[in-house]
Amino acid sequence: MAAKIIDGKAIAEAVRSELKERVAALSAKGTTPGLGVILVGDNPASRSYVTAKERACESIGIYSDDNRLPADTSETDLLNKINQMNQDSRIHGILVQLPLPKHIDESTVLLAIDPAKDVDGFHPMNVGKMMIGEETFFPCTPHGVVQMLMRSGIETAGKHVVVVGRSNIVGKPVANMLLQKKEGANATVTLCHTGTTDLGSFSRQADILIAASGWPNTVTTDMVKPGAVVIDVGVNRVEDASKKNGYRLVGDVDFDGVSTVASHITPVPGGVGPMTITMLLYNTVLSAEIEFEKGDR
Ligand code: GUN
Repeated sequence: MAAKIIDGKAIAEAVRSELKERVAALSAKGTTPGLGVILVGDNPASRSYVTAKERACESIGIYSDDNRLPADTSETDLLNKINQMNQDSRIHGILVQLPLPKHIDESTVLLAIDPAKDVDGFHPMNVGKMMIGEETFFPCTPHGVVQMLMRSGIETAGKHVVVVGRSNIVGKPVANMLLQKKEGANATVTLCHTGTTDLGSFSRQADILIAASGWPNTVTTDMVKPGAVVIDVGVNRVEDASKKNGYRLVGDVDFDGVSTVASHITPVPGGVGPMTITMLLYNTVLSAEIEFEKGDR
């Protein structure tokens, strides 16, 4: 039987309409949530992500402050820009698109963002809070995955989740979120990575398999237990001469093969991607609400 498609676009729409109402409520009280966006350089994938994020902000009434800086921007200039945004009361969230050019130290930059405006959830203080199960800004892609599972009625408690990939942006945080003793989590989690011997022997044990390796076809049909739920976080550009732009997007999972054995699967595009952007909007609205309440007390 073919797997049920988890429609990330539809779930994202539902979350966005909830957020739109929260933005309207803030607006009625005189506050417009604001997101400061910084892109350094002209990586084409980063450019299209940033544009999509800004459009999404606009669609629900969040103000976005767009800053596209040249690739040779110095670390000091970038830190100054972040400081300026830290002080700017119109800005509730700061997003520095990663990766940064090699001459800029990523951890110095992430540390410079005010944790109260860290809507990406990458500041070590917020990472630490997530780790110990406290409320904080959760990183957008992992949070999107958790929301997708919850809103699709997929039970995680007591299930074996296998994550493939140990990035700081997806693999490590999604593993962490799903092992917390919380609603929508409480799973047994295995985290596999490039140092794992015999990936298939682990992935075949997964009730829920999360692919976040960054390589097409990391997960093939033989690596999936029949009936498993498969979440594909990958966004890979592969050459395709039949396309106008010369490429097509594929995930980390062999979708055609795996969808013949999985019970549920997310497509690429239209799966995790729209959820990532939506959770950025979620964190920005949350930050504006927290800020408003501080001022209201
Ligand atoms: N690069 C890839 N994913 C992300 C993300 O979620 N946030 C930022 N800032 N950069 C990214």
